Amino acid sequence: MRGVEAALLVLSQVREGRFASEVIRGMADSMKASDLTLASTLVYATLRRLLLWKEVYSRLLKPPAGGLSRLAEDALCVGTAGMLELRNFAPKVLVNALVQALKEGGDERGARLLNAVLRRVSEEGAGLLATIGSSGNWRDQALYAGIPAWVATIWRNSFGDDAKGLLRMARIRPYSSFRVLPEEEMNSVIDQARSKGLRCWPSPLVSSGLRMSSTIYPGNFPGYSEGLSTPQTEGSMMIGELMKEVYRGGPILEMCSGRGIKTGHLMGLFPGVALECMEMSPRRISSAQRELRRLRHGDLPDFSQGDALQLSPRRVPGLISLDAPCSGSGTWSRHPEGKWRLTAEKIDSLASLQKSLLKRAVSLVEPGGVVVYSTCSLMKTENEGVVAEVLSEDPSLVERPFAFTSKHMRKGRPWGVYIWPELPWLDGFYAAAILKRSGGKDVDR
Ligand SMILES: C[S@@+](CC[C@H](N)C(=O)[O-])C[C@H]1O[C@@H](n2cnc3c(N)ncnc32)[C@H](O)[C@@H]1O
Repeated sequence: MRGVEAALLVLSQVREGRFASEVIRGMADSMKASDLTLASTLVYATLRRLLLWKEVYSRLLKPPAGGLSRLAEDALCVGTAGMLELRNFAPKVLVNALVQALKEGGDERGARLLNAVLRRVSEEGAGLLATIGSSGNWRDQALYAGIPAWVATIWRNSFGDDAKGLLRMARIRPYSSFRVLPEEEMNSVIDQARSKGLRCWPSPLVSSGLRMSSTIYPGNFPGYSEGLSTPQTEGSMMIGELMKEVYRGGPILEMCSGRGIKTGHLMGLFPGVALECMEMSPRRISSAQRELRRLRHGDLPDFSQGDALQLSPRRVPGLISLDAPCSGSGTWSRHPEGKWRLTAEKIDSLASLQKSLLKRAVSLVEPGGVVVYSTCSLMKTENEGVVAEVLSEDPSLVERPFAFTSKHMRKGRPWGVYIWPELPWLDGFYAAAILKRSGGKDVDR
């Protein structure tokens, strides 16, 4: 399949509720690498600022055309994004491929319209984009950044002037980052990567982190098949390092272990410490087990499948990592489809689940132990709002503040810290550590 055709196919699957990254991964074996890269570039450029592209082409549709097919809408978005964002792309080649795809899909009217509209985009689109980008209007700024206006307003109410920074950061293109463990292998992995012409260097932020100046399919990165390198964002690695900072001893419980990305990191950070994992999804548990076998850390942790609100750990944990299900609003540059699916009701229902999970976590941790609550969300309702409710209900719980070790950390108000997504390797995260006092015993061990 050719790149443009594949991009349209991915977008149709995203409409059905799938993640672009998952669909693209599924195509990897059956497509040429150059076509896959093209498809992926077009899909992400389109999804990151979907409403902006719709706005631009709609303003240039004269007269406005109703009843566009979904394929035609997607093709118009891809064409507008490709022409206005991907400068080194030959517009004619893109337009011809999109017209062809519409004709093959039986949409002759859409093909004619697309041709006409994209000609206008090539003539007037850049000017229109510049007008929206320089507008002082908050809605236009959100549109230009590719953030739903209602979310931008929540950020402005939560973070004041810093919300403008978040809108700027939303436009940063993410690059690949890897965790390399054991850390002694860092230089050898970097040497192998450089010998393949890949630019990479150690992260100054996290000890086992490695940065690239591009993106790569993880399986093609050196050390992957030997279990030495794992794709992980630096924000996520920083959460592991914060856990190390507040760990006071005892077994560790991961209450929502997902596909095991943090699990592998924890096994590297806490060698020999008993680790237990809970996770609702059987598929994610299988992925996590595959991932941990690939990493060759030794014995796998104990996994329990089910609802962490109901399950009980086999050993009383001294540290619980609760990496809660969340809106993912800190990861939108990597998973842009999430922002167009989120609703205010969804945030409220997530916050209610997060509070229940955190209450369960503090009930399970041993007296004197710590719960690290984390999300990859930039919504206060899912972060400080959750911590506030849980702390207010139990006087034996206190915050255990983190040291500020990075300029990319922002103080939560008043609890926890944010990791600000201001670099191509950093997703946005939030973390707060809660200490369960044990009367006299809760001094640092
Ligand atoms: C943010 S993800 C965890 C990511 C994981 N920590 C990692 O770094 O790879 C949240 C996970 O919570 C799981 N989950 C949601 N509700 C749950 C529940 N009630 N009990 C257990 N797991 C749950 C989801 O299936 C999802 O895998």
